[in-house]
Amino acid sequence: MKNIIIANWKMNPATNKEAKKLFSETNKKAKAKNTEVVVCPPFAYLGLLKGKNLGAQNVCFEGKGAFTGEVSALMLKDLGVSFVIVGHSERRKYFNETNLQMNGKIKNSMEAGLKPILCIGETKQEFEAHLKPDVLETQITEALKDITKEQVKKIVIAYEPVWAIGTGENCSVDETMTSIVFIRKIISELYNREIADNMQIIYGGSVKSFNSADYIKHAGANGLLVGGASLDVEEFIAIVKSAE
Ligand code: 13P
Repeated sequence: MKNIIIANWKMNPATNKEAKKLFSETNKKAKAKNTEVVVCPPFAYLGLLKGKNLGAQNVCFEGKGAFTGEVSALMLKDLGVSFVIVGHSERRKYFNETNLQMNGKIKNSMEAGLKPILCIGETKQEFEAHLKPDVLETQITEALKDITKEQVKKIVIAYEPVWAIGTGENCSVDETMTSIVFIRKIISELYNREIADNMQIIYGGSVKSFNSADYIKHAGANGLLVGGASLDVEEFIAIVKSAE
């Protein structure tokens, strides 16, 4: 399995011009043999950027109709998008998105031929109250309801502890490894061992070039979801190289 390194630009950069420059420089320099590189810019820039490695940061849980302000999976597909982030903690926190909605987003994305990147992770309070396993299990089980074996094989799961996002407080290798093993166990119970073993499970949360290799080499992660560091081309390239 190839490692996958995903850039989540969040609501950056501020202009078309900057987005085009960042995208073309990232693509030019992020040439990797054993690593797939995906870039997820804001919706507004997707139509301007061309590449096999384009991802969106969100998608509507319904396929079409009266959903003001939303963007459908088919619209994204039509723009040349291949991947879509679903359930990012910022969507859950600021926009009250639920696991039921994640389920709709995943189903619509898969029907349109997009590859979902399902984000899961516990908050600081949940972590301190030892609720991490319960939280992860609920997030996975509800988001994957009625998703078939054939479909689930194409999903990427991103373990992103909420307390590690944008804080500089990245999750330890041991804690990440425990979470990844636990996620495989849940997938194995929901589907089977083979699917669980082959599932692409990645880590996100304050990934920088000085800590990125540890997750791939020692925590069993099949890749990384990178926020802040993906806006700095040199730093992002160093992260891609560390995964090779
Ligand atoms: P940071 O890398 O900025 O912590 O963000 C992680 C993230 O939320 C990626 O989706």
